[in-house]
Amino acid sequence: MSKEVIVVRGNSTLTGEVRIAGAKNSALKLMAATLLGQGPSTLHNVPVISDIEIMSEVLTTLGASVERDGHDLFIDTAAVDRCVTPYELVSKMRASISVLGPLIGRFGAARVAMPGGCQIGARKIDMHLVGLEMLGVKFDVDHGVLIASTPNGLNGAHVVLEFPSVGATENMLMAAVAAKGHTVIENAAREPEIVDLCDMLNSMGCKISGAGASSIEIEGVELDDLHPCEHTTVGDRIEAGTFLAGGALTGGPLTVVGIDPSFLKMSLLKFEAMGCKIEAQADRITISRDHPLSPTDIQTLPHPGFPTDLQAQFMLLAALADGISVITENVFENRFMFAAELMRMGADITLEEHHAIIRGVKRLQGAPVSSTDLRAGAALVLAGIVAEGYTTVYEIGHIDRGYEDYVGKLSSLGADLERRSL
Ligand code: UD1
Repeated sequence: MSKEVIVVRGNSTLTGEVRIAGAKNSALKLMAATLLGQGPSTLHNVPVISDIEIMSEVLTTLGASVERDGHDLFIDTAAVDRCVTPYELVSKMRASISVLGPLIGRFGAARVAMPGGCQIGARKIDMHLVGLEMLGVKFDVDHGVLIASTPNGLNGAHVVLEFPSVGATENMLMAAVAAKGHTVIENAAREPEIVDLCDMLNSMGCKISGAGASSIEIEGVELDDLHPCEHTTVGDRIEAGTFLAGGALTGGPLTVVGIDPSFLKMSLLKFEAMGCKIEAQADRITISRDHPLSPTDIQTLPHPGFPTDLQAQFMLLAALADGISVITENVFENRFMFAAELMRMGADITLEEHHAIIRGVKRLQGAPVSSTDLRAGAALVLAGIVAEGYTTVYEIGHIDRGYEDYVGKLSSLGADLERRSL
C-alpha cells in the first residue's frame, strides 16, 4: 500500500452530529477474553481500525478463527491449541500482551514476545508480572520471549498494584478468573473499559465484583464452567472527546452520539472551564462555544482523572486560548512530542520536564506536520482545520490504528480534508 497523508484546508468549522465507534481499548481486551470461552463468541460495536486487525492476527496465530461483518466480530476460540505470540505482532501493537492473562488462565502457560519501548515512554510491564507472580505464575525470559508457567497451579491472592495500570489490571483479571480461590486486586484501574471487560467476563461465567472501584474481587471458577458469549463494546470515550475538542475549537454546535457522558466527567468539566457549553443526555453530548477559549490547567491521571489520551487535543485548545495554561502529564513520561509539531504551526509552548506551559496565540498556521502517536495525529488534523492555509499530516498510520474513518467523519461535520497518496 502506498504511503498516505491527510491534507487539510484550514479556516473550517465543525458542526452537526457524529456517531462514535466502539472503544478500541475495550474491544482489544474483549477479543483477548474470548480465549477463555473456548468456543464461538460474538462481539458487537467493534471499530473498523487497524489495531483490531492486528489483534485478529494475534488470535488467528493462536489457532482461533476470526470473521468480521461490519461492526460485528465472530471469534471462535475452540480450536486454540497454541499459546505463543510472536514479536512481529507484539512489536506492531503493544496491546498484544493482553493475551498473556487469558492464555495463562486457559493453559497455565504462555510464550509472549516482550514488548519493546515505545514512543510515549518506557511502558514497562513489571506490574503485570509482579501481579501474575502473586497468582503463582513463574516467568523466564528466553531470547526476548517471556515464558510463563504455573508449576504449582494458579492460585488466588491478595494483590496490591503499585499504580492503577490498565493493562496490568486486565491481565490479572483474565488470569485470576480461572485461578483456585479468591483474588483481590487493590489499587485496580477504574477505566470504563475495565468495567466493560468485567461485564463480558461475568457473562461468560466468571465471578467478578467491584469493577469500576479500586478494589476488585474475583472468585475463581473451573475453566470448563466458562462459556462463549455475545457482548456489545462500550462507546469510545477518547474518540468522543476528540470530536468534542473539534467542536470546542471551532464553536460547534457538535454532537457525539453513542457515548455514555459519565465516561468523560473530568474532560467535560475542563471543556466548561475553557468556556464551552455542554449538554449531555443518556448516550449523547453536545458542545458549543460562543466566547473566546479560556485558559485552564490540566493534569493527566488514571480514571476518573483527566485522561492522558485527550492531553494532545486539550493542548491544542490551550494553544488558542486567551491566556496561559499549564498541562502536567503524570501517566506517560514522554508524551509531549505533539508540542513540537504544534509549535511548527505557531503555538507558543515551553516544556519543563512533565509540565507544558502554553501561552495562547491568536491563530495557527498550516504546515507540514507528523503524527507522533495516535492521539497526537488526530489532534494535528484538528489543528489543520482551524489553522490558516493548508496542513499536511504525515505518518497517518497512527491515526488509522484508533480512529474509524476519521477523514469521512470530519468531512461530514464540514471539514475540508482528504487522504492523498504520496
Ligand atoms: C492503556 C491504553 C492507553 C492509555 C493508558 C492509560 C490500551 C490498549 N491502551 O495503556 O491508550 O493511554 O491505558 O490510560 O488500553 N506502567 C509500568 N509498569 C507496568 C504497567 C504500566 O511502569 O507494568 C506504566 C506505564 O509505563 C505508563 C503507566 O504505567 O507510564 C500507565 O500504563 P497503563 O495504565 O498500564 O497503560 P496501558 O495499559 O499500557
